[in-house]
Amino acid sequence: MKRETGSRVRPATPADLPALLALDRGAPTAARWSEADYRRLFAEAGRVALVIEDGSVQGFIVGRDLGPEWEIENIVIASAAQGRGLGTRLVQELLKLAQTQGAQAVFLEVRESNRAARALYATLGFVESGRRKSYYRNPDEDALVYKKSLPRALGKAVEGAGGV
Ligand SMILES: CC(C)(COP(=O)(O)OP(=O)(O)OC[C@H]1O[C@@H](n2cnc3c(N)ncnc32)[C@H](O)[C@@H]1OP(=O)(O)O)[C@@H](O)C(=O)NCCC(=O)NCCS
Repeated sequence: MKRETGSRVRPATPADLPALLALDRGAPTAARWSEADYRRLFAEAGRVALVIEDGSVQGFIVGRDLGPEWEIENIVIASAAQGRGLGTRLVQELLKLAQTQGAQAVFLEVRESNRAARALYATLGFVESGRRKSYYRNPDEDALVYKKSLPRALGKAVEGAGGV
């Protein structure tokens, strides 16, 4: 794969809302949140949202800090920027943050048919750990649960991120 080099990951701010919504609307397999859902990201404790920029915002990831376990709630890379390693970078940064905050594992749910996302998570060491029957609607589909156990913290995470 051709890997990106000039991108930057930073915490999302309310000024990123239009970009987050546009990315969401352009991705049929994303979590598809409402504008109110995205606004809540900046009002609720325990939510972590990062964006990746390469000139402009090309993607985002949203995580939830549940103490010893974190959850990846949403991730989208602009379709024109997919396949360049940006999604990998965002997940890695979130894992690093979770690790530095003392999390022991990160979970997520993904549509069974979402091959790209499942391959991304498998590449990063997530393992399938369960199935939620008919978890998704429109269309009705099972969710697969993926889990990655984290070693003790080593690296430094994105500056200023966490508790957005
Ligand atoms: C899933 C998603 C975030 C991946 O982001 P990305 O930047 O394209 O991923 P990367 O370039 O970092 O690719 C990482 C790995 O994912 C896998 N992958 C990515 N796109 C893929 C595709 N279209 N088909 C199969 N595997 C794919 C590959 O294993 C790849 O590693 P490799 O190229 O070294 O083999 C992106 O496709 C996306 O935004 N999809 C729409 C929204 C969505 O479905 N979100 C997930 C909800 S759970």
